[in-house]
Amino acid sequence: MKLDKELEKIKDEVLACRKCSLGQERRRNGFYPVIGEGNHQAKIVFCGEAPGLQESKTSRPFCGAAGRILDELLESAGIKREDVYISNLLKDRPPDNRDPLPEEIEACSPYIERQLEIIKPKVICPLGRYSMKFLMEKFGIGARIEPISKIHGQVFEINTSFGPAKLIPFYHPAVAIYHFSMKETLKQDFQILKKFK
Ligand code: URA
Repeated sequence: MKLDKELEKIKDEVLACRKCSLGQERRRNGFYPVIGEGNHQAKIVFCGEAPGLQESKTSRPFCGAAGRILDELLESAGIKREDVYISNLLKDRPPDNRDPLPEEIEACSPYIERQLEIIKPKVICPLGRYSMKFLMEKFGIGARIEPISKIHGQVFEINTSFGPAKLIPFYHPAVAIYHFSMKETLKQDFQILKKFK
């Protein structure tokens, strides 16, 4: 199928990518890039920040501790993981899970942009403030950016190259690893997705 081929091509490009130092770091460690996984015709696409250690060892997004929380959140909204598409802003792990650098976002973000253009979701869900900022700016609502503590769970109407869509920022699931009460906030926010599945 055409979609599968186009997404596969992104994988080949990331494997050969030399635009920032994270690819070099990945090759040195014998890790994998994490391109994304799920339904190539998903209505809902989640965009995390960057792979962690577990993800880089397996090439699967959100398969470690944050992933277990994401799975719980999806289940609480009655959404099957295989029905959505899950990816990240950066395809390679920053050393020691540090925050993404502006130049890494600039180098890597064309891949998530293309993934969105191929999948054409109705709902785009940034997970965490880095993806939130990047995607809100990309879709022309940069002026509405506020701290994620203010706008998590809000539905923003956006215009994309593939038509109207919604952008709903969520806290990054990893916040609930150490702050248990955040899991309840995230669960409440995820309930909005029931409308769109
Ligand atoms: N955190 C992310 O942002 N993405 C992953 O894939 C895993 C953890």
